[in-house]
Amino acid sequence: MQPQLISLPVLRDRYGFIGVVEGQEALPFEVRRFYFIGDVAPGATRGSHAHRTLRQLIIALSGSFVVDLDDGNSVEEFALDTPHVGLLVPPGYWRTLRDFAPNTVVGVLASHEYDESDYIRSYRDFVEWARAR
Ligand code: TYD
Repeated sequence: MQPQLISLPVLRDRYGFIGVVEGQEALPFEVRRFYFIGDVAPGATRGSHAHRTLRQLIIALSGSFVVDLDDGNSVEEFALDTPHVGLLVPPGYWRTLRDFAPNTVVGVLASHEYDESDYIRSYRDFVEWARAR
């Protein structure tokens, strides 16, 4: 699985919209957790870690931000600024979320419950792990 932006179906009427992520065609993993991030301090970054096995779909539910995905060799940049698109993040990518617009809310669908042992929090350890993979 490569990192990729996927379109999320959106049902719109004159009262607003409903975005849907549903079924196995929409996501290449089963969702075991949903979490959301908000009230990000101006200039702050989040993330700065990798996951050994976790798969995620990251959505800008409101506002905008940039996600840098680093596989240990190169960095790819994804701008998220609409809830109609999600970023699929496979395991093994060092991710940094940055450049948050005010009042941004990030939604994350994840393949597993929170597990600290799945995190790699040192960049040096990540590069070593990625090389040995
Ligand atoms: P972390 O994933 O490092 O946040 P970010 O990448 O957004 O900077 O998590 C920050 C803290 O929150 C960490 O101590 C663990 C806790 N946490 C949970 O308890 N459950 C969760 O589902 C998540 C994502 C984090």
